[in-house]
Amino acid sequence: MPKIVFLPHQDLCPEGAVLEAKVGETILDVALRNGIEVEHACEKSCACTTCHCIVREGFDSLAESTEDEDDMLDKSWGLEPESRLGCQALVAGDDLVVEIPRYTINHAREH
Ligand code: FES
Repeated sequence: MPKIVFLPHQDLCPEGAVLEAKVGETILDVALRNGIEVEHACEKSCACTTCHCIVREGFDSLAESTEDEDDMLDKSWGLEPESRLGCQALVAGDDLVVEIPRYTINHAREH
């Protein structure tokens, strides 16, 4: 089973976490299942960016993002080349190292 290392985040997981993931699960669902309450304001429908995360290791193992995901990512706070929406990125076979950005912007609420 692949593992996801979540790097420490001040509020959501101050110590960081190493979690087991199932292939085909989203990064967001792995976090939520383990009590890391990453925001998901649009209920995982690719419309808010609050689940934005940065995949520091293992990025290339993930299936490519869709155009809809890329459009939303463009509006994320702190966008990086390895940014993904946690609700859209499906775990493949490889281990991942994931950073949860410090801030998020909730486009679902703001529009
Ligand atoms: S939960 Fe809204 S885009 Fe992922």
